[in-house]
Amino acid sequence: MRSLPELGLVCLESTHMSEHNLLSIKSLSVSFGGLKALTKVDLDLNKNEVVGLIGPNGAGKTTFFNALSGLVDVSSGTLEINGKSHKWPKPYELIDLGIARTLQGVGLFPELTVLENVMIGANKTAKSGLIASALGFSGSDELRLKQRSMIALERVYAASLADEKAGSLPYPVTKRIAIARALVSEPKILLLDEPAGGLGAQDIEWMNSLIQNLASQCSVILVEHHMDVVMSVCNRLYVLNFGEVIASGDVETVRRDPAVVEAYLGVSH
Ligand SMILES: Nc1ncnc2c1ncn2[C@@H]1O[C@H](COP(=O)(O)OP(=O)(O)O)[C@@H](O)[C@H]1O
Ligand SMILES: [Mg+2]
Repeated sequence: MRSLPELGLVCLESTHMSEHNLLSIKSLSVSFGGLKALTKVDLDLNKNEVVGLIGPNGAGKTTFFNALSGLVDVSSGTLEINGKSHKWPKPYELIDLGIARTLQGVGLFPELTVLENVMIGANKTAKSGLIASALGFSGSDELRLKQRSMIALERVYAASLADEKAGSLPYPVTKRIAIARALVSEPKILLLDEPAGGLGAQDIEWMNSLIQNLASQCSVILVEHHMDVVMSVCNRLYVLNFGEVIASGDVETVRRDPAVVEAYLGVSH
């Protein structure tokens, strides 16, 4: 069989990639004292793509999200969004950059209602969301924010729970509400940190189809230990081990990569 370069396809492919490129991170490094948590990590995310960021515990996955959301200092590396170079953002700049994230765990306020928890995900002064405007919603800032929050809750199939206290709900439901809180700012880039963590088989199925639906409206970077979820929802994968990308590419190529097998199973054969 002839290789892609022989067929002249490399050029076509790279043009395609750059047209749709939403996020490009080059050579990102983060250190905690003497510990190198991330070393020269490159990652690209295209429009409407779900990219998996996987690797053993302590590999640096959450640190990657923390760097991209301004929660840790970046030692070096560049960030481009929509082909435009940006400084590494502060946490309060994320919404304007079109980035939202969930936390590993859930992080809802148990005494607040579901709706109030979701409203926290937007800043009140932000202009009315595009979806809410398209639907003709208007009114006070607070009313618009409530309407946007209800739309976000509908996207995670939890609108009927809006008035419940978050602390009264079962864990799997709170995981979906945490996603609604991230969606309320109508992000272009959604960072999901272990959305299926702690869920049983049936709720994992739910989460699976939810993430697939999300990709029609935004791009997702997914950190997840459940390999069945990763394999079924991700378009491409990056594998981190001890802070370095040891493999990347389409799901099938990566799962057969010997370095990945070794990192996960701790064997070299
Ligand atoms: N705020 C921090 N201060 C010091 N060390 C940290 C901090 N956050 C993470 N680390 C360390 O960085 C490494 C990567 O952690 P993390 O990004 O949480 O891994 P993962 O999410 O892949 O399990 C680990 O060795 C962890 O102990
Ligand atoms: Mg983590």
